[in-house]
Amino acid sequence: MEDKKLHAVLDHLTLQEKIGQLIQLPGNFFDVHTATTGPEKKLGIDAAVVDMCGSVLNVAGAEKTRRVQDQHLKKNKIPLLFMSDIVYGFKTIYPIPLGLGATWDPELIEKDYQNTADEAKASGNQVAFAPMVDLVRDARWGRVLESTGEDPLLNSQYASAMVRGFQHNFDAKHGIAACVKHFAAYGAVESGKEYNSVDMSERELRQNYLPSYKAAVDAGTKLVMTAFNTMNGVPITGNKWLLKDILRDEWGFDGIIISDYAAVAELVNHGFVPTNHEATEQAFNATVDIDMKSPCYANELQPLLKEGRIDVQKIDEACWRVLKLKNEMGLFEDPYRGASVEAEKEQLITPKKRALARKTANEASVLLKNDGILPLSSDQKVALIGPYSNSQELIGLWAVHGDTKDVISIETAFNEKVDAGHLRSTLGTSLMAADDNYQGMGMSESQFKQAILSSDEQKKEDQKVAELSAWADVVVMPVGEHTVQSGEAGSRANINLPAQQVALIHRVAKSGKPIVLVTISGRPLVLSDVETDASAILQAWFPGTEGGHAIADIIFGKTNPSGRLSMGFPRSVGQLPQYYSHLSTGRSPLTSGHSSRYMSKYTDVKDGPLYPFGFGLSYHQAEYRNLTLSQDKMMADQTLQVSVELENSSAIAGTETVQLYLQDVFASVVQPVKVLKDYQRVTLKAYETKTIVFTITAEMLQFYGQQNQLTIEPGQFNVFVGNNSRDCMKTSFEFI
Ligand code: GLC
Repeated sequence: MEDKKLHAVLDHLTLQEKIGQLIQLPGNFFDVHTATTGPEKKLGIDAAVVDMCGSVLNVAGAEKTRRVQDQHLKKNKIPLLFMSDIVYGFKTIYPIPLGLGATWDPELIEKDYQNTADEAKASGNQVAFAPMVDLVRDARWGRVLESTGEDPLLNSQYASAMVRGFQHNFDAKHGIAACVKHFAAYGAVESGKEYNSVDMSERELRQNYLPSYKAAVDAGTKLVMTAFNTMNGVPITGNKWLLKDILRDEWGFDGIIISDYAAVAELVNHGFVPTNHEATEQAFNATVDIDMKSPCYANELQPLLKEGRIDVQKIDEACWRVLKLKNEMGLFEDPYRGASVEAEKEQLITPKKRALARKTANEASVLLKNDGILPLSSDQKVALIGPYSNSQELIGLWAVHGDTKDVISIETAFNEKVDAGHLRSTLGTSLMAADDNYQGMGMSESQFKQAILSSDEQKKEDQKVAELSAWADVVVMPVGEHTVQSGEAGSRANINLPAQQVALIHRVAKSGKPIVLVTISGRPLVLSDVETDASAILQAWFPGTEGGHAIADIIFGKTNPSGRLSMGFPRSVGQLPQYYSHLSTGRSPLTSGHSSRYMSKYTDVKDGPLYPFGFGLSYHQAEYRNLTLSQDKMMADQTLQVSVELENSSAIAGTETVQLYLQDVFASVVQPVKVLKDYQRVTLKAYETKTIVFTITAEMLQFYGQQNQLTIEPGQFNVFVGNNSRDCMKTSFEFI
């Protein structure tokens, strides 16, 4: 409907109805409506609030959403908005975003998210609580799973692509609304501990942590979700500087700000305010529009209005933002927005969508080591030994609407590749350790029991392992962490492979047969203690619905791996947080003249990552040559061309991700030793040579100065070009 009519709708709402639009409740409030024992009582709100509320959390499926909408519309003329965690797929599940980050292929990811929007819309979901664009430098944090990694440029490009994908052709009938999260800097939680504090300079925040949210806002995200953490002592959900001054006033965001789950009420737990009353005042005056799953807005907005502590005009403005989105999505004309069982049959997990998921999982996988054992051939005798050998648990913790029964396991996929009788498989050992604190991970005892072996079962496995190792030409070992060990509330202080899996790998190594490790994880694991046992290591992440196929495609050479890490792998958890774009310090091991002791390093672990940002191997052989600049000086109104010759010196076609890094060698605020400024994915035929050209612009030379302003300073800039952040060719120019 036209805005004029929509304004009339707003004007005819009572104050309580307007406040209702600012409340979001989970699905269980809508199934059983019993005020006495129902969830309302537990939450501390009146049953009447349920009939007034404006949006629902995590209800999906055409039948269910239509039923809930029908029930709601009997009591409320404003249709519900259905919002859900749709982070890396809906029914067709893609690799976790840390894997998507390793594709360096935002265009492909945009298509994935278009497909996801089509599935979600058919199933009655209108808003995705994604993309999650938090920059992460600490693999202990469980939610690194949902992030695309440690680099602001790469994260920004994925943020834009995911928003564009969700909101493709966005109107009453197309696309779903994106809700970028978690604003802001949730990925910088101290010690990688979940829900912990964040403290950093405004300069660091602006230079590294805000760009990806800004990219999502510039791409037109319809919603922004507040983060659970504090920023310099002020909890985000009550942080007016971040939410109003920066997000709304400086960036011009005029969409909906929604709190994270119960985060308004948690302002009390933070010690920011004494009661829900003040929590509501702080969040509302910081312009949080929707209170997700807390009693605050329901119970406190009217009293605050009476006390004159909030402005009724602001209620209208917040309600207008919600009504405007509902109107934009055509809900007043079609409250189901096309969701139907027929639409689901047409959209959900189609062969075409599976094919794209398989392609994406191929591009997301990163070959970390290969002494030449890969690719395997179909006539080799292959033993699959590892807890993930025949598992369908390959979709990760946040695949809320995915179904593991749709997943292709590694064993199923391998059976399609090897000659008859050339594949044997066994678990080898359990996924989790018997002393894991499964209750602390939210696991039930029965769920935990499925993840461990009894001592008798382990004895039988030991025998099978010995037999299969002796029989095989090569042993492929799918190992890793359990789904519940990463994702939200999945922070870990130890990120090595579990001891029983390390022991299994060592045992198989003693057989003398070559080992191909396939790591299934929601984070970079520490692989230092098994790296030398393996002839090859393939990092598959939680690879999604088509995970088994993608792993088999690479291992048997149907695909030449092109994945490049968007987050480095540490040698030890003690190095964290760790990232490639670090500062030089006054005593860098690379440049310091001090004795071997007095340098910025550890005495017990080799410096730097085991596998650096941007790293990944392929089956082809790429040579980088002749790095040249168009000129050795550059002025602000000029650009400078960087060219490099790239030769595929092998008989295998492949894709190289050529990476361009810059270093501002001297500046009034010291700058990192390297910062990614551009990259190109280049396909090369066998023995093909190409010249790759990058253009350096003045904008690439900017940084946030001592007054937190974007600035640029004359001086030397080093230029690095290579296929990862460590092994680069180098030259330099002067900005004058
Ligand atoms: C969770 C997460 C957030 C999610 C929300 C709704 O606690 O922090 O990412 O979208 O609640 O499930």
